Amino acid sequence: PAMQNISGRSQLEKDLQATLGISRVIVTSGDSDVRSWVKKEMSQACVSEMIDTLEPNDVVAVAGGTTLATLATSVYPHPNLQNVTFVPARGGLGEDVDLQSNTICAELARGAHAQYRLLHVPDQLSDHAYDSVIQEPGIRELLALIRSPRMVIHSVGEAQTMATRRSADESKLRRLKEQEAIAEAFGYYFDSEGKVVQKEKTIGLQLDELGRDQMVVTLAGGMSKAEAIVAYMTYRPSDLLITDEGAATAIMGTQ
Ligand code: BG6
Repeated sequence: PAMQNISGRSQLEKDLQATLGISRVIVTSGDSDVRSWVKKEMSQACVSEMIDTLEPNDVVAVAGGTTLATLATSVYPHPNLQNVTFVPARGGLGEDVDLQSNTICAELARGAHAQYRLLHVPDQLSDHAYDSVIQEPGIRELLALIRSPRMVIHSVGEAQTMATRRSADESKLRRLKEQEAIAEAFGYYFDSEGKVVQKEKTIGLQLDELGRDQMVVTLAGGMSKAEAIVAYMTYRPSDLLITDEGAATAIMGTQ
């Protein structure tokens, strides 16, 4: 569709707020499936939000992925960010190193001249090793920070796309299809009713522990993510959705 003017976009924002039950939605122009600058514009909106909202000593948990990687290249030093600590939301999820939340966390802190902590827990651990690692004092202390941050910033992906990107085997892909998984966020897979149907084995932020003290910012655009965004928001409406026209018009078109 043709790009909308500012008033067309603010109407889309209002429509999405009402449809998804989210208190704030920002829609930037374009479709990030088609043009790479669109992720940059969504990221810039997110950086402004971080500067307006964050205070010294706040902890920000960040997820991984290409959208968050763009956020990391868009952030810049600002007095409101310099005493903020970035932490990864979850341990490794089988992504390439560039897209892992640890990497993005460090890059965000570098770009913002802020602080960061990393979560060093290997992915492939036996249950036994896993249970003892998470009892280590250093890890426990970090997990406490990760699980009650001031702000959480993440994207949402389409379920099959994300499982494939994380090298899921045939049987896992088939199972996700049978369960009608549509969306993925933080290693959780959701169906169209927003029900969690599968979870990757990793530690960190537990979605069901997110409370009112956490401001959850979802940064997700592109027409291909429309259904995934709706499914995830049915599970838990975020405090702020930053999306693009591609996703926004597709979501409104299916309602
Ligand atoms: C991450 C989320 O932030 O972004 C993932 O934690 C999600 O769960 C992913 O699927 C989407 O990645 P991308 O590359 O589309 O931004």
